[in-house]
Amino acid sequence: MKGRFFVLDGPDGGGKTTQVAALRDYLVERGEQVKTLREPGATTAGEAIRDLLLDPNTDLIPVAEMLLYQAARAQMVDALLRPTLESGVTVLLDRYWYSTAAYQGHGLGLDIDSVRAVSRTATGGLEPDHLFVLDVDPEVGLSRIRGERDRIEGRPLEYHRRVRDGFLAEAQLLGDRATVLDASRPAAEVSAIIREVVDRL
Ligand code: TYD
Repeated sequence: MKGRFFVLDGPDGGGKTTQVAALRDYLVERGEQVKTLREPGATTAGEAIRDLLLDPNTDLIPVAEMLLYQAARAQMVDALLRPTLESGVTVLLDRYWYSTAAYQGHGLGLDIDSVRAVSRTATGGLEPDHLFVLDVDPEVGLSRIRGERDRIEGRPLEYHRRVRDGFLAEAQLLGDRATVLDASRPAAEVSAIIREVVDRL
């Protein structure tokens, strides 16, 4: 892969969207070609799957939910992520399979090894150069959400605590290929740390 590949992930309300945009602006200013992608979504099929997954009226058993996230991911990886990286463009991805490990594995209690196995099928084993986890206490994160809560956000606090622990566990497994950031700090401070790590790489 010729392009650089960074993932920003973490619990709801951690400010990923803001940080992805800030990092994109920084890299573009320095003359780098950058594409931002998000999960679930990015492709036509992925956006339709996203609507289904986030609709509070959708009834899904945990395995079905996990497979839908993976289906959206497989389509995005093949149609957009891989070709973009192969063309030498940097990709900033808003969520990746670490979300499935956290939300459907740790959060819903699905077997983490099978989540990993299906993730490998969906991604073809394509891993980022670095993972940034924007870590935030779920109480703080959920209180930042404006408007109606979607199907996932509407789950109880206990669920979101397991999700957060899941992200921390996944980041730990990656060692120096992941950075956990305290997303309750001002956005500008968080951006500065992300830039520092990206520059170092
Ligand atoms: P996101 O785009 O971050 O939500 P928002 O538009 O509100 O910022 O992600 C949508 C939701 O899907 C979010 O609550 C996390 C959840 N999710 C999973 O449960 N599993 C996954 O594999 C992914 C990628 C997201």
